[in-house]
Amino acid sequence: MKTETPQPIHLTDYRPVPYLIDSVDLDFQLHPDATQVRARLSLRPNPASTTNNAPLVLDGEKIVLQSLVLDGALLQPSQYRVGEQSLTIANVPAAPFTLEIVTTCNPAANTELSGLYVSGGVFCTQCEAEGFRRITYFLDRPDVMARYTVRMEAERASVPVLLSNGNPREDGLIGGTTRHYAVWDDPFPKPSYLFALVAGDLGAVHDTFTTMSGRDVSLGIYVLKGNEDRCAWAMESLKESMRWDERRFGREYDLDVFNIVAVPDFNMGAMENKGLNVFNDKYILANPETATDADYVNIEAIIAHEYFHNWTGNRITCRDWFQLCLKEGLTVFRDQEFTSDLRSRAVKRISDVKTLRARQFPEDNGPLAHPPRPSAYIEINNFYTPTVYEKGAEICRMMLTLIGEQAFRKAMDLYFARHDGEAASVEQFVACMSDASGRDLSQFFTWYTQAGTPSVTAEGHYDAASKQYTLTLEQQVKPTPGQEQKQPLHIPLGIGLVGPDGADMPLDLDGVGTLNTPLIELRDQRQTFRFNNVAKRPVLSLNRGFSAPVKMEATLAMADELFLMGHDSDSFNRWEAGQRLGRKLVLDAYRGTAAEADVAAYAAALKKIIDDPAVDDAFKALMLVLPSEGEIAAALGAEVDTDKVHGARDGLRTALAAHLDGELGAIWQRTGEPGPYRPDPASTARRGLRQAALALMVMGNAKRGIALALAEFEAAHNMSAEMGALAALMQVDCPERETALDRFHARHAHEHLLIDKWLMLNAQAQGPNAAARIEALTRHPDFRWTTPNKVYALLSGFVGGNPAGFNAEDGSGYRVIADAIIRLDAINPQVASRLATGFRSCKLLNSSRKSAAQAELARILAEPSLSRDVFEIVSKIAGS
Ligand code: PHE
Ligand code: ZN
Repeated sequence: MKTETPQPIHLTDYRPVPYLIDSVDLDFQLHPDATQVRARLSLRPNPASTTNNAPLVLDGEKIVLQSLVLDGALLQPSQYRVGEQSLTIANVPAAPFTLEIVTTCNPAANTELSGLYVSGGVFCTQCEAEGFRRITYFLDRPDVMARYTVRMEAERASVPVLLSNGNPREDGLIGGTTRHYAVWDDPFPKPSYLFALVAGDLGAVHDTFTTMSGRDVSLGIYVLKGNEDRCAWAMESLKESMRWDERRFGREYDLDVFNIVAVPDFNMGAMENKGLNVFNDKYILANPETATDADYVNIEAIIAHEYFHNWTGNRITCRDWFQLCLKEGLTVFRDQEFTSDLRSRAVKRISDVKTLRARQFPEDNGPLAHPPRPSAYIEINNFYTPTVYEKGAEICRMMLTLIGEQAFRKAMDLYFARHDGEAASVEQFVACMSDASGRDLSQFFTWYTQAGTPSVTAEGHYDAASKQYTLTLEQQVKPTPGQEQKQPLHIPLGIGLVGPDGADMPLDLDGVGTLNTPLIELRDQRQTFRFNNVAKRPVLSLNRGFSAPVKMEATLAMADELFLMGHDSDSFNRWEAGQRLGRKLVLDAYRGTAAEADVAAYAAALKKIIDDPAVDDAFKALMLVLPSEGEIAAALGAEVDTDKVHGARDGLRTALAAHLDGELGAIWQRTGEPGPYRPDPASTARRGLRQAALALMVMGNAKRGIALALAEFEAAHNMSAEMGALAALMQVDCPERETALDRFHARHAHEHLLIDKWLMLNAQAQGPNAAARIEALTRHPDFRWTTPNKVYALLSGFVGGNPAGFNAEDGSGYRVIADAIIRLDAINPQVASRLATGFRSCKLLNSSRKSAAQAELARILAEPSLSRDVFEIVSKIAGS
């Protein structure tokens, strides 16, 4: 808790740690409200440190010191000092020494879910980023890598399963007691944030995987009892991930066991602890009756993500937390590639870009903007952001685009060879990319250090006489907090010149010749590219495949956009042309300048796509969704009236639904579930299209649409169909939707993950008094402030999924969320601060909304003992 204004930590202050820890022996006496931890550390002065005879300052918080023994001698209180966040021993030997620390903690009282806590009656740990210091005193930073041995002792009856990192060594009973023990060994040195322990009455499913070199790895997924039959998809996904990392990156698993545990209380999605991944159970448990298609896809991707961390994050970790994107950006990139290889690459790319626009662009465009590698932070937990993760992944993808597939693989091999077992920096990673490819990436590096989304304007001119096409590009990044001046970036742009027949014309770049790869590189602020021998007037297709995370400000005529929508050989840009047109039409409606002929032309282009049997269902579904209300607000830029945005967007959807009535009906006819649910890509795509069609049909003809949705809901025999029907109903304020919500609750009252879905649906319900509904639900017996999933479903679901409700002009949405933030801050600051980021775009709004939001932010800041987490986020937003 804050006593004075929290101070930032700076990247430039990084110094090697004065002492290293070679090994750690931990002994846990597990009791829910008083666990004793004995830690035996082997330390030595760090030869790389510049300070000699420095005092030993160990991190520690919320733990109680019982005793301290240095090289066998008990230390007296006069020989050390215990602070709120540290333990200092002024005099330690200048040679290797051992320290034995006994502390106690209270897992049952740990509502922050950082350190050792209890979830569903199970002991579990979360140490990233700085949770290990809540277990024992330690040099709790990622460049301190040690070998761990863990011994756990607990009640045999209530805690039969004892797990930790690495390989199991030994277990047995404690004679004459009701307790037992187990010992685990992790042969790989690791930073403390990768430590994990799980102990409880867990059920499990097991399998084995044979690695590329023929070693058998035993796999286990541990869940609360009764959930064992919901682990099959997660297990399949794990084996797919292990195979893929061998095939695509030559990376083999390195321990004899790989375990996953699913717990119901978890701040994030999952955690890559060495050999013992811990998951939020919503990203493990699945069967057709409880999980949607999106759940299946997420489970597959998150299992892969955590597994891939074994090499990118664990074997090679981060020097300090400023380098977080080194492991996260790279691992997101790897999981995106995994999904692209397993499913449809085009569909994956489009959905990743949708996520980037929904989450990262708004961050980059507001008071929380920061570079993928930040240079300062107050609370590191606030930097697990879309910028670090998703923009970090985009940077890896751009390097792949720039140096090519082969050189990229060579660079990755070099990275593993050079830095295995080390705590590395972003510079070292990029050095591998340039060493392996021979390319100078020094200008490119600015992507890591500069915040803000660049916008690129493109102006093309075709000269029929000389058959030349001249393209002038200009890049610009608006100032972001703390970065007034921006440098030009090195931007790879996929490009096509599309001829009148829809085929790409050859790219003969002046001064270069025919391009082998359809790619140009923008490096200056303003640059002109001249293409020769362009036979016909081309339509420009730029940033193909979303080769760079920029805003393209191309000024194509409507006819050209419609042409690209129908003909671009790059599916991403086909979708993108549709998005640009959709955005223009919503903006026209917002400004009252809509032209019925434009809407008709847009609908006709959509019609062609829907009727084309060669186009896959998932792509059709994506084409049927207009840019989000958030994107429209960002395009307006200022003085936004969110009710009008909602109305304009829905108005266009109603009009489109009327134009497409026949097509939507035909989709409905042919997409019914033919048999038992299957999560394969084709079935997933078919259901996705069905749901997109239903959502539009409800907008087009409410009476008929509601009846269809209700019938679908009643007949549904899988959760995807059930949720698709309910989601469509949430769009309209009608009594049928309330009945359906009640029915859903009654059907699934005992499924905690389905109650989360019910909360989320409620949060998205459109119409007046949305905030009152939210407030009432926080008092519902099924809502729990201490369970992050409940908070995310109801409250983040409201902020992110109901922009009109959250931004209600009377301030009611802001008030209910500010109340929640204040209340949550005392329970779990990480969750509170994530919720607070929902205010990040309030500068875009009209003045009544802006001032209502400001008043709530001020009210939060006036709280007497605000956490560093919430203080950092709210003060940045309020002060901008
Ligand atoms: N490192 C985890 C991941 O991305 C995320 C995480 C961060 C989990 C902090 C818990 C705490 O895979
Ligand atoms: Zn990760």
